[in-house]
Amino acid sequence: MEASTELKLFEENSHLYRKVCESESIRDTKGFYYQFENDIEIAIFRDNGLLYAITNICPHQHSSVLHKGYIEDCTITCPLHGWMYSLKTGKALGGGASLKTFKVFEREGFVYVEIPSVEEPSWAKNL
Ligand code: FES
Repeated sequence: MEASTELKLFEENSHLYRKVCESESIRDTKGFYYQFENDIEIAIFRDNGLLYAITNICPHQHSSVLHKGYIEDCTITCPLHGWMYSLKTGKALGGGASLKTFKVFEREGFVYVEIPSVEEPSWAKNL
């Protein structure tokens, strides 16, 4: 693993990670919001000591709210209409929707998240 303290980046197995916050910023039952330079928004949670990073956008109405959701038994419940997702897989509990998940780890008191790539929307692939 290589580190660049100036850029706050780590590279491992061709994945690039960004230092996003101090570990103590992420507490049980409260989500942490972060926005990358490419405008991708994520929500980070701690549940039973483990960290999870997911997109902050709920697929139901494409609302940027999941960091305000309710955490219980490794699930996140959207605060707007109650859709529930697994923090491990991002899959909705009951229904076909799913959230994008991101690799996340802690090191020396800081939290690092895989820098997401901007994906072309599926509707634009056939243009
Ligand atoms: S916007 Fe999340 S459940 Fe409706």
